[in-house]
Order: sequence, then C-alpha cells, then structure tokens
Amino acid sequence: MIDFKLKIAEKLESIVNINKDELKSYIEVPKDTKNGDYSFPCFKLAKELKKAPQMIANEIKEKMNIEDMGIEKVEVVGGFLNFFVDKQLLAKEVLNEVANKNEYGKSKIGNGKNIVIDYSAPNIAKPFHIGHLRSTVIGGSLSNIYKFLGYNVTGVNHLGDYGTQFGKLIEGYKLWGAEYDIDKNPIDELTKIYVRINNLCKEDESVLEACRENFKKLEDGDPYCVELWKRFKEVSLKEFQKVYDLLGSKFESWNGEAFYSDKMPEVIELLEKSGKLVESQGAKIVDLTDDGIDTPCIIIKSNGSSTYATRDLAAILYRARTYDFEKALYVTSYEQVLHFKQVFATAKYLGLDEKYLKGLKHVPFGMVLLPTGKMSTREGNIVKLGDLLNEAIERAEKIIEQKNPGLEDKKETAKKVGVGAVIFNDLSNNRVKDEVFDWDTILNFQGETGPYIQYTYVRIKSVLEKAGGVPDIKDVNVTKLNDRYSQEILKLIYNFEDILVAVTEKEEPSILSRYLIDLAKAYSGFYNENKIMVEDKELQNARVYLSYATAKVLKEGTTLLGMEMPNKM
Ligand code: ARG
Repeated sequence: MIDFKLKIAEKLESIVNINKDELKSYIEVPKDTKNGDYSFPCFKLAKELKKAPQMIANEIKEKMNIEDMGIEKVEVVGGFLNFFVDKQLLAKEVLNEVANKNEYGKSKIGNGKNIVIDYSAPNIAKPFHIGHLRSTVIGGSLSNIYKFLGYNVTGVNHLGDYGTQFGKLIEGYKLWGAEYDIDKNPIDELTKIYVRINNLCKEDESVLEACRENFKKLEDGDPYCVELWKRFKEVSLKEFQKVYDLLGSKFESWNGEAFYSDKMPEVIELLEKSGKLVESQGAKIVDLTDDGIDTPCIIIKSNGSSTYATRDLAAILYRARTYDFEKALYVTSYEQVLHFKQVFATAKYLGLDEKYLKGLKHVPFGMVLLPTGKMSTREGNIVKLGDLLNEAIERAEKIIEQKNPGLEDKKETAKKVGVGAVIFNDLSNNRVKDEVFDWDTILNFQGETGPYIQYTYVRIKSVLEKAGGVPDIKDVNVTKLNDRYSQEILKLIYNFEDILVAVTEKEEPSILSRYLIDLAKAYSGFYNENKIMVEDKELQNARVYLSYATAKVLKEGTTLLGMEMPNKM
C-alpha cells in the first residue's frame, strides 16, 4: 500500500533538506478530519530553520508539488501543514490490499529481531488469580502482535516454582499427605496443607527447622524431595492448563524460577567481582543509592537462601545469552515496580552488554477491583481465574439463550463470547489503570465490549450471506464509497498496521482494542445510514465489499488480542 506519511516526508525532505525519517516521525494524524488526514507541525523545524512556524508552512506549501503524492490538497493552518489524501486512491489501495493479502496488516518490519516476553507466571501450589489473568492476557496479546509484525518472540512462563515454601509443603505432605487428594483438587488441597503446616511451624520451632532442611535437601537434589516437588508442580500445571486452554495461551518456554537454581552462583560471582556485593546484617546486598534507588537489592538472605531477585538476575544473563534479545519485557502488576527497578539496576553490575541493559523493560499493569460482594468466593477476595472464566461462559450462555434461543452450538458460542468478554475487558483500558470488573458492563452487547465487536462481526457475516457472498474485487467501484461512514471505515482500515506498531512502541494492547471499538462503531454508523442491498449493483458490491473488509480486520484484530470470533450469536 502507498505509505502516505512517507510520501509527505520525502517531499518535505526535498524541500527543507532534513532527513525524511525524522520528518516522518513528526507527522501527526489530526483528531478533527477538518484538519486533513495528516498534519505536519512546522514548529518542529523553527529552531533549525530560524523562522516562524507559519512562515515555514507557507514557504513549503509554495514549493510543494502535490501531483504525484496521492495528496489532493494541502492547507496551511497556523503553523501546521494539513494534508488531504486522495480518497479514491486510498479506497483503492485499501480494498486491493484486503483482496490480495491473506492476512491484512501482517508485515516483516520486525525483521526477525528477538523479543522475550515474560508473562503469566503463576505460582505452583497457589491459586491462579485474577492478577495472573491480566498478565496472561496482556503478555499474550503483545506476543501475538510482535509475531504478526515479523519479530521472533519467545514467550516465557516464569513459573514461581522455587523458594522456601516448598520445604514447608514437603514437610506437610510427609505428615498428612494421605488425608488430601491432591490429584483431584491440586491447588485447593495444597493450599490447605500449606496453611496447616504454616500454623504448626508457628507453634513448633523444630518443624520449621525440618522445613528449612527440606528446602536445603531439595536444592541439593535429594531424590525424595525432588520427587515431591515435581509432583506438586505437575498437578498444579495440570490445573493451570485448564485456564490456558480456555484462553488459548501458549508459551515458548516454561523455564520457571527453579530453572535458575544452578545459575545463581555465577550471579554472585559477577557481583562480587564488580565490588558491589556487600555484607549487611548477615545478608549480601547490592547498594543502589548511586542509582537513585533507596532500597538495596538483597541477593542472599541472612539465612543463606537466594531471593526472587537473584533468580531474576540469573534469568537476565540466561536470556541475553540464549535469545540475544532486543527487548525483554516483564508483564506484572505495578506492585513489582520497585522489584524490577532494583533488578534492572543491579543487572548493570553483571557486566552485560549495554544493548541488553537497554532492552530490559517492565510492563506494569493495574489492579482488578471487584464491586464488593458480587464476586467473592470461599476464600474471600481471591477470585480464582478458572471460576471466573466459567462464570463468564455461563452468563454468556444465559444472554444468548434469551437473544437467540434457536442458535446451534450455543455452548461453543458462549465460550467465545464469555471468554472474549473477559479478555477484551482486560485490554480495553490503559494497562496501568486499575480496572473495575463488573459483569453487566463487560457482557453488554451495546457497550464498548468484546461482545459488541463480535456482534458487529456476526452482523456483517449475515450481510455477506444475504448478498450471496463476497463480490470479486474487479467488480468493485470505489467511487461509490463516498459517504462519511465509508470514508471513516476506509481510513481506519488503512491505519491498521500503524496501530499495531503503536502497540509495540508503548507495549499497550489497549491501542488496538480502542481501535477495534472505533471500527465497529463506524460500521454500525455505516449500517444504520446506508442500505446495503440496493438496485444499483455497483453500489451494492462496493458496500458489501467494504463490509467484508471490515469483518476481516475485526477478526484479525480480535485474534491478535487473543479472542475468538463466533460466526453467529
Ligand atoms: N510469579 C510472580 C508472581 O506471581 C511473577 C513473576 C514475574 N516474572 C519475573 N521474571 N519476575 O507475582
């Protein structure tokens, strides 16, 4: 497709003699279409050219020949140059691209660059909770989008499968294992054992000692302890997998914290060599005051055990060497902001190449707030993800039952709608914002929701059915698509790839969700305003084709978010 921004930048380059890439980066998309499709803010050049922005704008306009650019008009407003794209050319470009490309918007701009995304990462023997849902959904959609843009992505599920709590679990299991059916209900039963042994530890110092001993044995490879630990991990993963199956989550690597147990000595060695590792109250720490961080990074606790941070440092070394990453992203709640600040600052003292240090990036997200009372489970406020998704599916089924009782595959559709609603809700706002989870809002077919987008898609499917299929692109006359909504849709579809790029620049999938809402809304406007099945077959073909293009982008976009589209609902 023609890259209009680039065309403008090239033309500007020939006039002002500044690199086109720099110029391109200044080009904006005006909020109000009155100001054209693209706008160039001339104040960006004022310093360099030593002139007032408005004067620059006028001079450029004078010198600019727009004939060969696909631009139909350029206007000066204040210090801005506003460009109006040739609408018919844009329509032709967009629809031809839709016709010719199997996956519209897919590209190779990532050029095989390596991206590591650390996400989901639930903890063994503990509930997979709603916070892990956000990580799974945000990380998963980022992974899909990076891949779609031609990056080489390694999604890592950095499982919490290590630490002193396993010493306790082993002890509890030794004492009372026979009383609990951990195959049937792994997480619930293991949690019960954990609570019970913890209480006993508080009463009896010798039990606590035995637990510590177990963990030590586990680290040293004692067969009994390792066997049990493996079993806890296996049964937990089996339960987590049910959630991953519902969400369609897949990971390239399952290396959790335990994977780094034999890789931590090197971290300690390197930090010692750097002279940054110091003793403090029996612990070994790295002081980070020089890096502007008040709290030091604890590497070895006073009882001799390693920490969550030590394992993250070992993981950085491993990932740099194994994946040679351009970016290494960490998707967790903002509660871990300080942890990652400390870890990234400490990583400087491992002697890592600057390239890797620059690529480390925490991608924090906000909390999920529950409207009180509504969703509490037995455990109080911890809502387990499996329960939540199943409730979403049940609720979706009830709604579908009401709206479309005759529908076939109600169960399958309810799954797509229910799970899709939860996923979309999680991605629909700026990720660092806290999110209020409210069933009526997220499942509202008319709201800014997943089901609304699915509903729009299904509606288009039935339009295509009525029209007897998608017309041949050769029979489409784009000049027929000159109404306001058609124009809006065409421009949105044209922008799809830019939207995906913006997601990767900010690690912000909500840019795509908002876009899909805009596209669905534009289509609703189009549908309400325009008759599609009309006498004039040329007009009908054009409108049907535009509908088809919209459906294609809605489906691709939602798939990238991790949702599935129903064909009917
Ligand atoms: N297991 C951790 C938790 O549940 C998240 C791990 C995130 N990844 C990392 N490399 N620290 O909070």
